[in-house]
Amino acid sequence: MVDAQKRALVTGGAGLIGSHIVDALVRDGWRVRILDNLEPQTHKQGKPAWIHPQAEFLHGNVQDYDTMLSALHGVDVVFHQAAYGGYMPEMAKYVLVNSFSTAQMLEIIRDHKLPIRKVIVASSQAVYSEGAAECEVHGRVAPLLRPAEQLRSGHFEVPCPQCGRPTRSIPTPEETPGGGETVYALTKVDQERLVLLWGKQTGIPTVALRYSCTYGPRQSLFNPYTGVIAIFCTRLLNGRPPVMYEDGGQTRDLCFVEDIARANLLVAASDKLDGMPVNVGSGRATSVRDLASIIARQLGVSIDPIARGEFRPGEIRSLISDISRIQTIGYQPQIALEEGIDRYIAWIKTQGTVEDYFAGAEAGLRQKGIVQSVTKSAALA
Ligand SMILES: NC(=O)c1ccc[n+]([C@@H]2O[C@H](COP(=O)([O-])OP(=O)(O)OC[C@H]3O[C@@H](n4cnc5c(N)ncnc54)[C@H](O)[C@@H]3O)[C@@H](O)[C@H]2O)c1
Ligand SMILES: [Zn+2]
Repeated sequence: MVDAQKRALVTGGAGLIGSHIVDALVRDGWRVRILDNLEPQTHKQGKPAWIHPQAEFLHGNVQDYDTMLSALHGVDVVFHQAAYGGYMPEMAKYVLVNSFSTAQMLEIIRDHKLPIRKVIVASSQAVYSEGAAECEVHGRVAPLLRPAEQLRSGHFEVPCPQCGRPTRSIPTPEETPGGGETVYALTKVDQERLVLLWGKQTGIPTVALRYSCTYGPRQSLFNPYTGVIAIFCTRLLNGRPPVMYEDGGQTRDLCFVEDIARANLLVAASDKLDGMPVNVGSGRATSVRDLASIIARQLGVSIDPIARGEFRPGEIRSLISDISRIQTIGYQPQIALEEGIDRYIAWIKTQGTVEDYFAGAEAGLRQKGIVQSVTKSAALA
């Protein structure tokens, strides 16, 4: 029954997560519109072939008022995925694409009295400072960000905020105090707070999904600033070692993109989590070092990762998402890491020549202080 067909706007619907949300929505019978400007950093070869033929594609920028107004026309639910992400050196662009554009979108919906029934915004685990941890003396604690001076001296563990002993990472629930410790993370905090606050003021249901590290087919092979699995794959396929920051002992909660897309559809169909920030992830931790060996093994190459005494100020040491909140509406991660990486590698093999863009981006990251070095004396110690 066409009249009952639900209508979605997926901003960033050409990207990794957005495109999988689009596919899942079309499969579920939604009418879908995509708004995406095909950011060149991500889409070096232009419009990707995977954009669903049944979705309407608007090529435009979320920053543009009139474009956003027409994109929102006739929509029931907004899945707001478009964003500038990762460890890019720009500052103002993050604020414009992420914070400003979200605020403007909300203003448009309110001021034009658009009959939107729900806004779901893509937030990130990056909103936590160091996540939740356990101290052997003080139990559960919420450590503060490790200061750059500590990292510079080659000490990477996360100290207990009360006694300074090293802590152990434990699953991080949504109540854990956060902050936004990089420019990207700050704008993710902005986006989720703007959306949740606006939801309370207008009465329109909203949810902020805090995604963990997402990967899978369609993750850009051109962007050297974001996506650890993509970057490690492109390095290894070019016969070069993956570069680990710190000592490679950081852990990440890595989640397959189809699980993240499914979480979006579950949240759209339920009102139980309205008004809340909600973690979505795998609930499992993998160290960056282990990840590098899993990928190398699955690619069939024997190249070890390297750590060169470098770190990125603001990087979270260890994060495991506590996914019990989203499990209350039936979410369960379904794709294990090895299987997900296999599926990503199978996709990469369909993508032609793969280049290592990371090598070219490194100097700029160092020059701008996004990547810094452990001091010589500490490195020798
Ligand atoms: N991938 C992850 O690990 C991860 C983790 C946490 C949160 N997120 C968030 O999830 C969302 C989707 O991320 P992704 O991994 O799919 O990234 P992606 O880069 O693959 O997709 C983002 C899409 O947004 C589009 N876009 C960027 N700027 C735009 C603009 N100004 N106007 C219109 N479109 C624009 C890009 O062209 C791209 O297609 C983002 O909000 C990101 O911050 C991602
Ligand atoms: Zn302690």
